Amino acid sequence: MEHRQAYWNRNVFWPSGKYSVDREFPSMSAEAMSFSTHRLHDRLESVLFGKDEIDRRIVEMGEEITTDMEGSTLSVVAILQGGALFMADLIRQIHLPLRIESITVASYHGGTASSGTVSFRQNQMPDVEGRDVLVLDDILDTGRTLSAVMETISLKCKPRSIRSAVLLSKRIDRAVQIEADYSGFDIGNEFVVGYGLDYKEEYRNLPVIGTLKSEYIDADS
Ligand code: IMP
Ligand code: MG
Repeated sequence: MEHRQAYWNRNVFWPSGKYSVDREFPSMSAEAMSFSTHRLHDRLESVLFGKDEIDRRIVEMGEEITTDMEGSTLSVVAILQGGALFMADLIRQIHLPLRIESITVASYHGGTASSGTVSFRQNQMPDVEGRDVLVLDDILDTGRTLSAVMETISLKCKPRSIRSAVLLSKRIDRAVQIEADYSGFDIGNEFVVGYGLDYKEEYRNLPVIGTLKSEYIDADS
């Protein structure tokens, strides 16, 4: 932990110490590097997926979607805020013309367990009439969010077709029976942060996905 802080001070934080990564840590992989240079990383108990692993999986998902959706009039709709980072990376791996849209919902309301209600937080629905929609979310948990969004878009926006993609899928008995058409990784029933996933709206900017140390989770969560 200490050497990580020293590394940060010397090479990243202070402009005088340039990025002499190879010289300083010749044996560290790029994956370990992205993991160790982010200062929020010290708050993680464990890392489930490193940056390179996420990048590789998103390339694969993009290839699959490109093949499946060739010839579509594609609109990608990110569920905000969590789906924003996934959308930014995934659309650059989809080799088709596409439009981007978003929809804002909340279901956790600040804790580490789904509240059971999905609130839509916007006045205008995405403009996807007659288009082939791909809804993106960071994670599929109870299924309430994705099913509410899919249903609302289907009913109110008149898309030609609708599919879904999530980066993570929890292996649990869902409150609503729904699976995504494309899923990056399966995880157990644990609360994770990073790469768009938040705890109390923070940690979305971590480049990796992991679990938080208990001291960073409030007792009432
Ligand atoms: P669901 O409605 O229970 O399927 O949950 C989906 C939403 O809950 C996602 O869009 C996330 O915002 C949030 N969520 C579910 N699991 C986690 C987690 O482990 N960490 C952070 N957010 C989560
Ligand atoms: Mg979310």
